[in-house]
Amino acid sequence: MAAPGENMRVNADRLWDSLMEMAKIGPGVAGGNNRQTLTDADAEGRKLFKRWCEAGGMTLSVDKMGTMFATRPGTDPDALPVYIGSHLDTQPTGGKYDGVLGVLSGLEVIRSMNDLGIRTKHPVVVTNWTNEEGARFAPAMLASGVFAGAIDLEYAYSRKDPDGKTFGDELKRIGWVGEEEVGARKMHAYFEYHIEQGPILEAENKQIGVVTHCQGLWWLEFTLTGREAHTGSTPMNMRVNAGLAMARIVEMVQTVAMENQPGCVGGVGQMFFSPNSRNVLPGKVVFTVDIRSPDQAKLDGMRARIEAEAAEICEALGVGCSVEAVGHFDPVTFDPTLVSAVRKAAEDLGYSHMNIISGAGHDACWAAKVAPATMIMCPCVGGLSHNEAEDISKEWASAGADVLLRAVVETAGI
Ligand code: GLV
Ligand code: MN
Ligand code: MN
Ligand code: MN
Repeated sequence: MAAPGENMRVNADRLWDSLMEMAKIGPGVAGGNNRQTLTDADAEGRKLFKRWCEAGGMTLSVDKMGTMFATRPGTDPDALPVYIGSHLDTQPTGGKYDGVLGVLSGLEVIRSMNDLGIRTKHPVVVTNWTNEEGARFAPAMLASGVFAGAIDLEYAYSRKDPDGKTFGDELKRIGWVGEEEVGARKMHAYFEYHIEQGPILEAENKQIGVVTHCQGLWWLEFTLTGREAHTGSTPMNMRVNAGLAMARIVEMVQTVAMENQPGCVGGVGQMFFSPNSRNVLPGKVVFTVDIRSPDQAKLDGMRARIEAEAAEICEALGVGCSVEAVGHFDPVTFDPTLVSAVRKAAEDLGYSHMNIISGAGHDACWAAKVAPATMIMCPCVGGLSHNEAEDISKEWASAGADVLLRAVVETAGI
């Protein structure tokens, strides 16, 4: 039996082939993927993952949020499982690796342990969380949020996509409502391996990011009410222009984020104009502000300032303004023992590494509420993600998976 410290590595070719096979499901329009949560493509991706898990000797269980848990038993019947998780859903114009790398590396860890004859004391569970992306149904990390007790199950089921379809109905439609109660499981530890989705590791020429923290976020959905009117015949001083109010708020968010440097970001990624016609001033505008920081005081301070200044902007224009927080989690500090296990695994393998703070949200952020948790990152080309051009190399992918294998075996015990 191979013990940690000997030549214990994953099968890089098999991991890469699995990534390429999954990427065939829900192809995008520019070489990436559109496998949004609870679509037919998501259902097809789940089926393939299930087949692979069962072929690897794992047993699948699904909870009421549709989250998939594939278990490889341990040798100690009383030991709590070590979890490896991430997501198979993508953005509408997503890459092939965001989330998918973490799930399929979990699978590869199991396949490699099978090949190497490694039996762990603790069971190992590979997890595919439902709706990590939040592109179709806000908030992001919805299923892990329910799992951690931070989001109500009924609230999750009631979330609507832009066509008005609910999460609950769509989960039923694709046939993935499981029997298991959400959050009933206890975890010995949780690991998530993910591409960085930013430029730091590549710029620093490091193979592995040892993730110590994740920044917190607020998603604020603004609904502005103006008056629909003819863009040609309505005098400038007689307009109640919700679009103008939105433009001023977008600029203000940029200013607030810039004035909170370093360590804060803020922007607007989604906007809906109604009626969205060239020659009608919009009567209604809905858009979402996304602000993030690893510093709790800065994060909450930015939110308060943005809401106050938005109210002033709208008042000056006679535009109605309401705000709903549709996504939130606090900054996270990952478990020091697991962080050290990741660092040691990278060192034992001779991989270059550095500490890093996750800029993106991950299911690990909710898992950290209920279990010791941490993450591993690999670089991605040009820091590009949430873009179909997202790219990594086979060597980057397998280096992180090697670290994951080693850290999981160390934590699960042999
Ligand atoms: C989720 O993918 C996020 O970080 O926005
Ligand atoms: Mn992701
Ligand atoms: Mn993502
Ligand atoms: Mn994410």
